[in-house]
Order: sequence, then C-alpha cells, then structure tokens
Amino acid sequence: INIQAFRSQLVSWFYHNQRDLPWRENRDPYRVWVSEIMLQQTRVDTVIPFYLNFMRQFPTLTALADATEDEILKAWEGLGYYSRVRNLQTAVREVVSEYAGVVPNTREEISSLKGVGPYTAGAILSIAYSKAEPAVDGNVMRVLSRVLLIDEDIAKAKTRKTFENELYQLIDPEDPSAFNQGLMELGALVCTPTSPGCLLCPVQSECGAYKQGLQNELPVKSKK
Ligand code: ADE
Repeated sequence: INIQAFRSQLVSWFYHNQRDLPWRENRDPYRVWVSEIMLQQTRVDTVIPFYLNFMRQFPTLTALADATEDEILKAWEGLGYYSRVRNLQTAVREVVSEYAGVVPNTREEISSLKGVGPYTAGAILSIAYSKAEPAVDGNVMRVLSRVLLIDEDIAKAKTRKTFENELYQLIDPEDPSAFNQGLMELGALVCTPTSPGCLLCPVQSECGAYKQGLQNELPVKSKK
C-alpha cells in the first residue's frame, strides 16, 4: 500500500462525498461528543432528529451538566440504552468540576471520563481537536481489514488494538478529522458489509482485498 496515495484519495473523497450531517456543522467538542455517543448503538438516520432536539434543549456542555435526570431521560426517549445519557451527564459534570468546563484534549484525560471508551476518545480527539488518534469501530475495522488484508476475528475484543496500531502509521497527520470521518463514511456508503461498491471506491488502487478478490471474505467475524 502507498500510504500517501491512500491518505489523499480518502481525504479528498470525504470532502467531495460526505453527507450533510448536523454534527458536522462545527467542531465543538461537546457537539462531537454527543453525536458519537448517540451513534454508538443507533443508526445515522435515527439519530438525526434526536440529535437536533437534544442540541436545542442542551446547547452547551454546561446546559447538560445543569439538566435534571428527568429532562435528559425524556430527551433520550426512543434512542434506548439509557446508561449512555446518564454516563454522558456524569462525564460532562466531571468536565465542569475537573477541567473548568473544557473537554480535555489528551487520550489519557478524555478516556478517564465516564462512558468514553477508546473509540469515542479517538473520535473527539481527531474531529474536534485534529489529533492524529485512531477511532476504531466496526465500520473502520471492516474497511481496514479489506484494505490491509487483516484476517483477525473482529468479534474478539483484543483485535481493536491491531487496528489502532495500524492506524497510528496510516492516519493522515495533516487532516486526522477528515481521515477518520472518511473511513467511517467509506464504510457507510461504499465499503458495506455485503456487496461493497469496489468499482466506485476511491481507494480501490490501494486495497489488498480488491486486488485479490477477497472483499467478500473480509472481515473475519466469528459468532461469539
Ligand atoms: N458513525 C459514528 N460516528 C460517525 C460520524 N461522525 N459520522 C457518521 N457516522 C458515524
């Protein structure tokens, strides 16, 4: 793989093909954070109206910190997995008390917040703070398993580390936000679980699976 080619193909494709999504309006770390928590177990199309409503109701980190439990649960009604919003409020209150209301910008500090796992930490650090940090979710593992011909079982927890290590080499240090969102967007729009759109893929020339006709065999995912 030609790393420079891969980066520029992916980033340029993202700028020309990204969906117009409400959390892409600006890079406010709080807004990015809320979107990534909602998107963890819920599809983009479902999230959009909830996200718009939540941001109207709690436009700032302080507004969410000051809200009552009833208010936040009501705003989350229909999204499910209510521990997500409970943890989010606990975490924004930590940001107010421990970090003067500013979302921290190091992996160590941000990962200490309730409900912020390795994926969410990487997403906020790259999208809001332009840090060259990986954000590995299922979509990203699918795309990279194909590009890099990685046949580790993506159902196994320790496999995420393999992808993170690869991404520290691969991520575009000039534009980590577009690079990471490009991987997410490619996974959603082109490099789909079944019938991936290889013929219109921007990184076709750098994809190991495409070259070997293995795009339907990867990723490897056990039932577990
Ligand atoms: N899935 C997870 N994070 C996302 C994002 N920022 N944009 C689109 N889909 C996503």
